[in-house]
Amino acid sequence: MLFRGARLIDPASNHRDRTDVLVEDEEVGGVGPGLSSARAEVIDCDGLVLAPGLVDLHAHLREPGFEHKETVESGSRAAAAGGFTAVCAMPNTDPVADNAAVVIEVRNLADKAGLCDVHPAGAITRGLQGETLTDIAEMAEHGVRLFTDDHNCVQSSRVMRLALEYAKAFEVVIAQHAQDASLSEGWQMHEGYYSSLLGLTGAPGEAESIVVARDLALARLTAGRLHVTHVSAADSVRLLRDGRERGIRVSADVTPHHLALTDGDLIGYDTSLRVNPPLRTSEDRDALRAALADGTLDAVATDHAPHAPEEKEQEFDQSPPGTIGLETALAVVLTELVGPGLIELPAAIERLSLGPARILGLDDQGGPVAPGRPANLVVFDPSTEWTVGDRPFQSQARNSAFTGRRLRGCVLHTMLRGRFTVKEGQPTR
Ligand code: DOR
Repeated sequence: MLFRGARLIDPASNHRDRTDVLVEDEEVGGVGPGLSSARAEVIDCDGLVLAPGLVDLHAHLREPGFEHKETVESGSRAAAAGGFTAVCAMPNTDPVADNAAVVIEVRNLADKAGLCDVHPAGAITRGLQGETLTDIAEMAEHGVRLFTDDHNCVQSSRVMRLALEYAKAFEVVIAQHAQDASLSEGWQMHEGYYSSLLGLTGAPGEAESIVVARDLALARLTAGRLHVTHVSAADSVRLLRDGRERGIRVSADVTPHHLALTDGDLIGYDTSLRVNPPLRTSEDRDALRAALADGTLDAVATDHAPHAPEEKEQEFDQSPPGTIGLETALAVVLTELVGPGLIELPAAIERLSLGPARILGLDDQGGPVAPGRPANLVVFDPSTEWTVGDRPFQSQARNSAFTGRRLRGCVLHTMLRGRFTVKEGQPTR
């Protein structure tokens, strides 16, 4: 396969120019202008961007247990359609991924689908109950790199300390959904002007930042690796920046919806916009944007959270939080951040590929796009505009916070180890 005349954006090698990329079997065979190969199929990439396949640190694939929302196969297909070649699957399944057997099962399902590498996250505590640590050692031996109780924030400082100590011993990452339970009881949205206006119960940004402050202290105490997932509040950003300056081992991600939307968008009570953590103010959103650009936030992670239509089509307070995100993540970042000049394209690609690959310790993802490296690639058209929802989602779910919005940027090809998972915009299986 010869990708001809693409603009190669490869953060690992700092490549930003137009070039050809040759793929031979599973690997990149060559990179440079004017490449040729008698046997190769040529793909004209004039005006297109070629980049390392995207990596998502936070996706809910729902299997086992919630196959009416999504399966590993449909979620992998959505990932490929969005340009992803690897995703980290969240453990809030049924049974919970709190042991090696569930982890192995999810990985087997993903291998069978063959559309995207799936790295299951392990739960920090049994049953996500926040009390008893899981067998982190056993799951780490089975290749689990990231542990999280996801939407169940670990409330106990003692349990979090122990988890970080184990993380240090096994060189894995403890990812926290930072949310103080007592400050966010019964929440439906961010607490502020709009929650008063809409008559909905709010949770303040402090519910997040208080836990971020505590966890930074515990990461310092233990020297364990902390990751704060889907950061939503400006105060959390300030704490993370300060923590990094003090040498604490911390990384963090932000979702496309927190980068693009605010609590004011909830004015129509659209349940697709009910997410956890909640959309916050424009000041919070602007702080997240700046932090992504300056690297305080290392990664964009989708928090792809599929739900069945009958679950989302309920009263606002009854509908489960979550938006799908795998198929819109790249376009949201291109439209909301790269377009207006808030972040440069190479930095945006870095936060969607190399940054998350490093956090997960994936040597085969995130580039460099260089000879001998696995051909995990995405090719996208940065200028095509489309309306979300106009073409069918590959995800089984429809609950997108971006439905009806015009976005710029369209994935044309995704390649996993030299094999197309998406070609001409269509999944290959
Ligand atoms: O919006 C969300 N939905 N946030 C979470 O943390 C969990 C997720 C889900 O599982 O639906």
